Amino acid sequence: MKISEAIFSGSSTSVSNKPKRRLPEFAFIGRSNVGKSSLINMLCNNRKLAMTSSTPGKTRLVNHFKINDNWYLVDLPGYGYAKMSFDGRKKLASIIKDYLSNSEELVLLFVLVDSRHDLGTLDLDFINELGENKIPFAIIFTKGDKLGSEVLKAQIERNKEILSRTWDVLPEIFTSSSTTRTGKEEILDYIDKIISSLNHTD
Ligand code: GTP
Ligand code: MG
Repeated sequence: MKISEAIFSGSSTSVSNKPKRRLPEFAFIGRSNVGKSSLINMLCNNRKLAMTSSTPGKTRLVNHFKINDNWYLVDLPGYGYAKMSFDGRKKLASIIKDYLSNSEELVLLFVLVDSRHDLGTLDLDFINELGENKIPFAIIFTKGDKLGSEVLKAQIERNKEILSRTWDVLPEIFTSSSTTRTGKEEILDYIDKIISSLNHTD
């Protein structure tokens, strides 16, 4: 799939005030600073679409972007901001929970994880909760350019091993880099494939 049009369609703090149009939604989430906004901009060929920053905690709302007038890309706030107040984190957690539990249009959630590190408790707890709530997800290991290809491969294998301790069947896994544009085709083709399968069951 090629993205020919990406239009910001609104920010919301609750499913009740997200854009009214019903289109399949593909959402992106991850710990703060994992490279979520950079990835979204890379996928959409637009460096300014989602706000990026080296200061964690930039995205505090649910942002909808209408893609090719056919589906919504949804930028969710990050989870687990170390530097945020307890109340601030609680508020974000409730915004995320509301979207994940109540958005009927959500088709798949991409969970972004920094490829340089082992999956931590925060990520694993979040992923396991998705399983409990039967929310379909895939994992994207971000910032792949920061490691050499052999080290990157080994680190991803390690993370697969960590996941297989709790999951019998591993989710779909992608590696990305917003700098080298790695992963773009694979992620967009995967979304395209899912959208086509939805249209066939209508
Ligand atoms: P919050 O919205 O603040 O939670 O962060 P985010 O997950 O949206 O991260 P963002 O895209 O703003 O990127 C955070 C920092 O990582 C920025 O300084 C980016 O330039 C850098 N970064 C993001 N993706 C990549 C990547 O693929 N490679 C490299 N080398 N740096 C990246
Ligand atoms: Mg962001």
